[in-house]
Amino acid sequence: METHEIVERFTNHFVNAGHTRVASASLILDDPTLLFVNAGMVPFKPYLLGEVPPPYPRATSIQKCVRTGDIDEVGKTTRHNTFFQMAGNFSFGDYFKAGAIENAWNLVTGSQDSGGFGFDPDRIWVTVYQDDDEAIELWRKIAGLPTERIQRRDGKDNYWDMGVPGPGGPCSEIYYDRGPEYGKEGGPVVDEDRYLEIWNLVFMQDVRGDLSPKLGHPPIGELPSKNIDTGMGVERVAYLLQGVVNVYETDLIRPVIARAEEFSGKRYGADPTDDVRFRVIADHARSGVMIIGDGVTPSNEARGYVLRRLLRRIVRSARLLGVHEPVLEAFAEVVRDAMAPSYPELVTDFERIAAVVRAEEDAFLQTLTSGSRIFDTAVERVKKSGSLILPGDQAFALHDTYGFPIDLTLEMASEAGLQVDETGFRALMNEQRTRAKADAAARKTGHGDMSAYRSVLDSHGVTDFLGYTDLSAEATVVGLLVDGQAVPAASEGTAVEVVLDRTPFYAEAGGQQADSGTLRSDSFTVRIDDVQSPVAGLRVHRGTVTNGTLTLDSTVIAEVDPMRRGAISRAHTATHLVHAGLRNALGSSAAQAGSLNAPGRLRFDFTSPGGAVSPAALNEIEDEVNTVLQQDREVEWYETSMDEARKLGAMMLFGEKYGDRVRVVDMGDYSRELCGGTHVARTGELGLVKVLSEASIGSGVRRVEALVGLDAFRHMSKEHLLVSQLADQLKSRPEDLPDRVAGLVERLRGAERDLEKHRAEAVLASANSLAEGAEDLGGTALVAVAAPAGLSGNDLRVLATDVRGRLGSRPGVVALFSAADDKLSFVVATTEAARNNGLAAGKLVPAFASAIGGRGGGKAELAQGGGSNPAGIPEAVRALRTAVRDASSAG
Ligand code: SER
Repeated sequence: METHEIVERFTNHFVNAGHTRVASASLILDDPTLLFVNAGMVPFKPYLLGEVPPPYPRATSIQKCVRTGDIDEVGKTTRHNTFFQMAGNFSFGDYFKAGAIENAWNLVTGSQDSGGFGFDPDRIWVTVYQDDDEAIELWRKIAGLPTERIQRRDGKDNYWDMGVPGPGGPCSEIYYDRGPEYGKEGGPVVDEDRYLEIWNLVFMQDVRGDLSPKLGHPPIGELPSKNIDTGMGVERVAYLLQGVVNVYETDLIRPVIARAEEFSGKRYGADPTDDVRFRVIADHARSGVMIIGDGVTPSNEARGYVLRRLLRRIVRSARLLGVHEPVLEAFAEVVRDAMAPSYPELVTDFERIAAVVRAEEDAFLQTLTSGSRIFDTAVERVKKSGSLILPGDQAFALHDTYGFPIDLTLEMASEAGLQVDETGFRALMNEQRTRAKADAAARKTGHGDMSAYRSVLDSHGVTDFLGYTDLSAEATVVGLLVDGQAVPAASEGTAVEVVLDRTPFYAEAGGQQADSGTLRSDSFTVRIDDVQSPVAGLRVHRGTVTNGTLTLDSTVIAEVDPMRRGAISRAHTATHLVHAGLRNALGSSAAQAGSLNAPGRLRFDFTSPGGAVSPAALNEIEDEVNTVLQQDREVEWYETSMDEARKLGAMMLFGEKYGDRVRVVDMGDYSRELCGGTHVARTGELGLVKVLSEASIGSGVRRVEALVGLDAFRHMSKEHLLVSQLADQLKSRPEDLPDRVAGLVERLRGAERDLEKHRAEAVLASANSLAEGAEDLGGTALVAVAAPAGLSGNDLRVLATDVRGRLGSRPGVVALFSAADDKLSFVVATTEAARNNGLAAGKLVPAFASAIGGRGGGKAELAQGGGSNPAGIPEAVRALRTAVRDASSAG
């Protein structure tokens, strides 16, 4: 069963059971506790926590997930993927344990004919949280499972939380017994490889604090309602249902292995060490592409670092398979093709994705090249000294200074007949780890290092945001970081991260892009290009010292670039208006699924169960929005309680987190949304909103793109000019252009048909002169010529048959060639008298085929074929003459 079908069956099963289908959220959600979405429940957190009322009591989703905690296990076990799809069903205060168990059991063991997965019920085992007698009873009653296949486990295995404060609860896991050949008897508590976990049902009821109930710490509270959160591993189910032995060989991942086989000339399955490399490549290529698809680029921190690590591990694994040329783009193409049916944005975004992987691979290959030179020198030196061991400090220097991976050093050393002092290497690694503990350790586990930011937050508290009213303010530098480390000062040319006690700069959030600008004093200037909030409450200004030396504790004038901010604010206000317009037209199912507010342009993603928005409806929405601009409504904002905002009917966005106090933005009575972004004062400032396009970006999610203000005007003005030019050229009034063009196209088609007819007639008319020009070769009439270029095979055949008819009862051979670009087609025909003399058309073909790079054949009467070398036609004609003459004189 293909993966595609597995997710479809899952979704259908739960939609039929009253669940609302919710599209996968981006891997990158605005949640400072997570680098990537790592479970299907993450986008639903506000509902589980009761921060936002759930818009539906039941939901189901296929969520993109990334987990890199076990990155070193990838390829070695049967089941570790860094990217995977989690199929889930969720109940928000609706059904609880019994419903979750029944739904899961029916899908897992339901027959394939009835839409289920058809797993043998006798091979299913489950685990439950240690004292959850209720769950045991339900499994016995609903599924009829015998007690010996229900096992109790402690919190480490059967309590689930996000690894950080938030919702959690005891869980029950479903396992499939792969059979005795895969391990020991005794159920999941004995062997988790033979018994493979496929589905986790979490009875989500607690609020976890800093310490996890997994380790026995009590939860700090109860959720407002009892919820269900389940997660089924799509890749695991796929591997069981596809009869393969691990997740890497399933239909969506295996194609990358095949591509890697082509590159390396090695065969997957031939060598266990190589196989791990193949699997690492396949897994990481998919994760890398999906992560870049959601907007991450490689860098040295946080998500960018995880991505860099994944991409470099691919290149390194390919190297170890003996591939030295660039591979990433080719692998990305394979991933795109496999994943596109579910994630069509991979196709539309592919140019960007390809550019990212090309750049990263170039950079890394350079590192490898310079590292290899150092390596060669080191090897030479070792050999000269008569030793066979590459010292640990050299391996360490290669790794630390040149970014040269140790396993590559090991591999290359062994090829050079040397060993590496690994103990020495590891000791140095450990030393370094202790030295730069927090930073290095965090980065190596792929969790980014937030400690420097946290310590600024701890000592100075949250950054005051002044930017709703002020674009310039005096502030104090309370945090200064270079390469993630706190420093007292930074000189000209240094890339810095600056935290101020207060700032007018908007940090990227809620789809609104960050401000840019400057931090100035008499003794320095810092250009700010980006502002982010890596930990909640802190605004970190990123930029470069362009002049002087910036020091901690100094006073600065922080100044936002007003042009950029103005254009972004206009886009953000326009986004609210477009959102309101869409809801007026399509109803409340058009819920926001994402947005981008950039200078002068916006992107708005929304769920649209009804599919595409018709051009007419889009036009109306645009019209309505522009009417609101003309009404010049006042844009007001105020803070209020969550409850009050709800009563006021403010739109709240899926996946956002809201505190007790929320900010509401009103545009007259046209639009009311919770929003932390910046806006203009009156709708009239927008001037103009022009919708450019509406398209699908994934299952049930559509995207509208629009321009705002001068950007909208310039776009329309350009199109206007284009239309005038066309009208001029076609000598038509602009409003008559569609008719005029349709008329032209129609006439052109008619003309092409006429031309075709004339050509055919002319060709046939040439039959007589061709027959008259026949040469006599030992009693056989031969017509062998290049006919007009571009004739179809059919025309050629008709013409050749006609010429043959005109040769009458003479022995005769007709061979016609017609070139088209760099190809040609030919026909050979023989008269009856020629055939009686032993001249068969099919047998004549080999005589000239090689001259025209051709192939073909046929009967004695008529043979037909094509070739790739039109320049060889004269040579072919000569060869035919010889063949015909020889055959005739022989006869
Ligand atoms: N949240 C649980 C998990 O990730 C079930 O969805 O396993």
